Amino acid sequence: MNIQQENIQKLVERRAKAKLGGGEKRIEAQHQKGKYTARERIAMLLDEGSFEEYDMFVRHRCNDFGMDKQHFDGDGVVTGCGTVDGRLVYVFAQDFTVTGGSLSKTMSEKICKVMDMALRNGAPCIGLNDSGGARIQEGVDALAGYGEIFERTILASGVIPQISGIFGPCAGGAVYSPALTDFTLMVKNTSYMFLTGPAVVKSVIGEEVTQEELGGASVHATKSGVAHFAAENEEEGIATIKELLSYLPQNNTEEAPRRETADPAGRVDDALNSIIPDNPNKPYDMYAVIRSIVDDGRFFEVHRGYAKNIIVGFAHMNGRSVGIVANQPAMLAGALDINASRKASRFVRCCDAFNIPLVTLVDVPGFLCGTHQEYGAIITNGAKLLYAYGEATVPKVTVTLRKSYGGAHIVMSCKQLRGDINYAWPSANIAVMGADGAVNVLYAKEMKAAATPEEAKAIYDEKKQAYDELFSNPYQAAQKGYIDDVIEPRNTRFRVIRALEQLSGKKQDVPAKKHDNLPL
Ligand code: HXC
Repeated sequence: MNIQQENIQKLVERRAKAKLGGGEKRIEAQHQKGKYTARERIAMLLDEGSFEEYDMFVRHRCNDFGMDKQHFDGDGVVTGCGTVDGRLVYVFAQDFTVTGGSLSKTMSEKICKVMDMALRNGAPCIGLNDSGGARIQEGVDALAGYGEIFERTILASGVIPQISGIFGPCAGGAVYSPALTDFTLMVKNTSYMFLTGPAVVKSVIGEEVTQEELGGASVHATKSGVAHFAAENEEEGIATIKELLSYLPQNNTEEAPRRETADPAGRVDDALNSIIPDNPNKPYDMYAVIRSIVDDGRFFEVHRGYAKNIIVGFAHMNGRSVGIVANQPAMLAGALDINASRKASRFVRCCDAFNIPLVTLVDVPGFLCGTHQEYGAIITNGAKLLYAYGEATVPKVTVTLRKSYGGAHIVMSCKQLRGDINYAWPSANIAVMGADGAVNVLYAKEMKAAATPEEAKAIYDEKKQAYDELFSNPYQAAQKGYIDDVIEPRNTRFRVIRALEQLSGKKQDVPAKKHDNLPL
């Protein structure tokens, strides 16, 4: 073997060793926990053979607490770029087999390097988290490393899509890394996120709680809303991230890719003409409407288990990626509450940041009332959604199916919030409030003064009928141009598609400012 061959042989050996991370025993332990390694996850995510790895030979620089004797090439994270369905992405995957994936200063430098590249080259950045947090032996260096990652995430926000997959522990301040990104996915039973773990919780407030109960995927996907997706296993988690990418552009100067479809743009669906029940208090399933109007009935839902009274997610319409926001009358009658407002406003802003048109389907009786909502700041939270729609400059097409009352009518992408095309079904009711509430407010005195309950009921019935005739339809709004057209439900798909085609060249400015001051 000559010198060159020896050098090459050394490289091959070093690469092979680096690829083992913390070694075979720890890889085995990782598998025993039902988890994949960082490299296996990257292999599942990226197109075969596309991974270009960087910093495979980087080592940490800590000499305290015996760390001078523990060196692993690459340290605790695998970083680089590759393609997903042929489109460039940057990726970092924490390697739990190396000191529990804990974050060293050099690890943060590796992560920051790919984040900088992603931002410079206008491609999404995907972080696969599986880490014990800041590397304890490194002290403040590790904290500084987190700070540098956070700052980059903030600067890249709204420029490139940033997606976090949580595939193991993510605890302490480290949770803010995914929390700053656009989407967070967790895997059920093997991942958890919390600021303080069960042991500290018990000692500080005496509460006994398991890791899963405190910060498992199911908790964050249903109760806190921290996780947008909860996958059954890692394979499903990676597949979800890949599908999510297919709805997003590479960056904020581009459009999302089109997806070819054989579903005709002009397809009508007669079933929609009879989907609204005669009884206005009876629910129906908004998912059926969404699936009916989007390409191939394919709807990619975000935040499926959280605030189910509003539905948000992506779909394609005639090949174009769209963000759907829809009230769900089958849950809390579709009323807007704190969680629904937060969920939808985040989604609307995300679509607006990444040039994805918004299609809003409205059936909303109003905001949820009561002390719980008021004390929790429904005012501020509802204002977030109002703000998000009002500032959004992407094409906005709204269809009012049934109720659209009061403040909730304004919030749900109405004309005055720069809604571009606002349609209503003939079943739409656009008013300050429903007939029952209105009559009880306007005629309370007359009904109270009535000689008998029958007389009071007669007054109620008469006034309700008058109110219904005037307001319980879309025509008052249509007469004034607040609704652009009243459409037959069966035609909704092609009318929305036609509106989106028309709006594809839309340009709208906002006044120059440093940044807005939305009601956080
Ligand atoms: C250094 C760590 C580590 C850490 C784990 N390890 N976390 N080393 N710093 N933060 C090491 C372990 O010593 C062990 O090394 C290996 O990783 C695997 O860990 P195990 O404990 O054996 O694994 P497991 O039983 O699965 O438990 C995983 C764990 C636990 C739950 C994550 O390790 C743990 O509680 N770690 C500490 C978590 C923590 O408090 N982190 C700080 C959070 S605060 P060997 O050599 O034995 O295999 C934070 C601040 C961020 O992160 C601030 C940002 C602003």
